[in-house]
Amino acid sequence: MNQMQAGLPQAAEHLRTRGVVLITGASSGIGKACAEHLHARGFRVYGTSRRAPEAPPPGSSGFQLVAMDVTSEDSVTAAIRQILAREGRIDVVLNNAGDGIAGAVEDTSIEEARRQLDTNFFGVLRVCRAALPIMRAQGSGLIVNISSLGGLVGLPFQGLYSASKFAVEGLTEVLRMEVRPFGVRVTLIEPGDFRTGFTAQRRKAAAADGHSAYAVRFGKALAIMERDEAGGADPLAVARLLERIIHTQSPLPRYKVGRFFQKLSTGLLRQILPQKLFEYLLMMSYGLS
Ligand SMILES: NC(=O)c1ccc[n+]([C@@H]2O[C@H](COP(=O)([O-])OP(=O)(O)OC[C@H]3O[C@@H](n4cnc5c(N)ncnc54)[C@H](OP(=O)(O)O)[C@@H]3O)[C@@H](O)[C@H]2O)c1
Repeated sequence: MNQMQAGLPQAAEHLRTRGVVLITGASSGIGKACAEHLHARGFRVYGTSRRAPEAPPPGSSGFQLVAMDVTSEDSVTAAIRQILAREGRIDVVLNNAGDGIAGAVEDTSIEEARRQLDTNFFGVLRVCRAALPIMRAQGSGLIVNISSLGGLVGLPFQGLYSASKFAVEGLTEVLRMEVRPFGVRVTLIEPGDFRTGFTAQRRKAAAADGHSAYAVRFGKALAIMERDEAGGADPLAVARLLERIIHTQSPLPRYKVGRFFQKLSTGLLRQILPQKLFEYLLMMSYGLS
C-alpha cells in the first residue's frame, strides 16, 4: 500500500476494495472500456444500455448491464433502485451516456436541439438527482461527468453538441461546490478524439443536406471530424484516468484526456493566443479558413 492509499479515510478505503460503480452508456466506446477496466480491478460495476440485453455485451468481461434510457426519469430511477436493492450503496457514478448531432446551427431544428440536450445535459442531471440522495445518506460518493474538449471550445458544425457539453461543464462546477459538505466529490473528464461508436451514431440535422447554404463547408468539417475521431485515442486511457480519479481524495475540477496536441490547443494555447488567432486556427483545422 502506498503513502496516498494509507492516508485515505474509511469511505475511500471501502471504495478501493468493494466500490459499487454505475456507468451510464456502457454498451460501447468509453463507457464500455471504463466498465471492463474497473470490473477487472475488482469493483462491482453496473453499466447501462437502452437495449439492456439479458447477457453482458460480446467481448465484455462480465460487468452487470442494466436498462437505462437517460432521457426518461422513470428509467433512470428504476435502474438506480435496482442497483441500490442489490448493493445497498452506490460509490461512483460515471455520467458517460451521450451522442452527437452535427450540422450548422441555423440548420438544426429546435426539436433536434432539444433531443441533443435531453440526452447529453438533462440525462446527466437526471442521473445526478437520482444518485445524490443515496450518496448524501452514505456521506460519501464520487460523480464524474464526461464532457468533451468541445465543452471548452465551440466546435464548428457541432454547435448543439458543444452547447450540451458547455452546459454539463457549468452544472458540474456548481454541483461540486454544493455537495462537498456531504462528502460527495464531483469532477469532469474532458476527452479529445477517441475511437468509439460515437462517429457512426452521430446524427446530422435534417436540414443539413445538399440544399443547405452551409452544405459545402459542413461537408468539409464533417469529413475532418470523422477522420480525427477514426484516428483518435484508445478509450482505455479514459478508463485508467477514471481509476486514478477514484483513488484521489480531492479530485481537481476537470481532467483533459486524449492526444497531447488537442489538450494543449484547448488549454495553454487557448489561454495565450489572441482570441481571433485561436478562432482562425480552429477554423483552419476544420478546413474552413
Ligand atoms: N468518442 C469521442 O471522440 C468523444 C470525445 C469527447 C467526448 N465524448 C463523450 O463520451 C461519451 C461516450 O461516448 P462514446 O464516444 O463512447 O460513444 P459510443 O461508443 O457511441 O457510446 C455511447 C454510449 O451512450 C449510450 N447512450 C446513448 N444515448 C443514450 C441514452 N439516451 N440513454 C442511455 N444511454 C445512451 C449508448 O448506449 P445504448 O445505445 O446501448 O443505449 C452507448 O453505450 C459521450 O458523452 C460523448 O459525448 C466522446
